[in-house]
Amino acid sequence: MKRAMIALMVTGLAIVALFAFVGDEYYLWVKAGHVIAVIAWMAGMLYLPRLFVYHCDAAPGSVQSETFKVMERRLYRAIINPAMIATWAFGLWLAWQGFAFSGGWLHAKLAAVLVLSGVHGYLGGAVRRFAEDRNTKPARHWRMVNEVPTLLMIVIVILVIVKPF
Ligand code: HEM
Repeated sequence: MKRAMIALMVTGLAIVALFAFVGDEYYLWVKAGHVIAVIAWMAGMLYLPRLFVYHCDAAPGSVQSETFKVMERRLYRAIINPAMIATWAFGLWLAWQGFAFSGGWLHAKLAAVLVLSGVHGYLGGAVRRFAEDRNTKPARHWRMVNEVPTLLMIVIVILVIVKPF
C-alpha cells in the first residue's frame, strides 16, 4: 500500500511537471518518450509471467527458487513500475495536448490501459506471494496470464494507430 501511494504521488508529480513546463512544440519528443516507456513496460509485463512459469517448477528454498525471487523483484521494481509511471505520465500529456481527451479510440484505449494496469497490480501481488513461497497457482495459470498483456497490447496499438472510431 505504501509503495502504491508513492507510485501514485510520483506519477501525479510527473504529470503536473509535464503539464506545467512542457510546451506543445515538444509533442513528438514526448511521444518518443511515451513509446520508449511502453516498450520497457511491455517487455517486463511479458517476461514476468514467464518467470513465474519456471518458478513454479523450482522447489521452495532451492537455489533456483531464491534466484527467481531476486529476478522477479528486480524486474518489477526497477523496470515494470517506473516504465508504467512514465507511460501514464507521457500518455496523459499527449492525450490532453493533442486531443483534449476526446475521441472514441482514445477512450477505448484508456479503458484497455486501465485493464493492463490492473494486470500489472495482479502481477505485483504475485511477486510478493512467490517471495513468501505462498504461490498456489499452477504453471498453466501463469502461461494463460502471459497471454493477457499480449492481447491488450494488440488492441491498444490498433486503437492508437488505426483510430477506427
Ligand atoms: C497510460 C495511458 C496511455 C495514454 C493516455 C496514451 C495516449 C496516447 C496518445 C494521446 C498518443 C498520441 C497519438 C497520436 O499522436 O496520434 C499515444 C501514442 C502511442 N501510444 Fe499511447 N497511451 C497510453 C498507453 C499506451 C500503451 C499501454 C501502449 C502500448 C501497449 C501505447 C502505445 C502507443 C503507441 C505505439 C503510440 C504511437 C502512435 C503513433 O504515433 O501513431 N500507449 N498514446
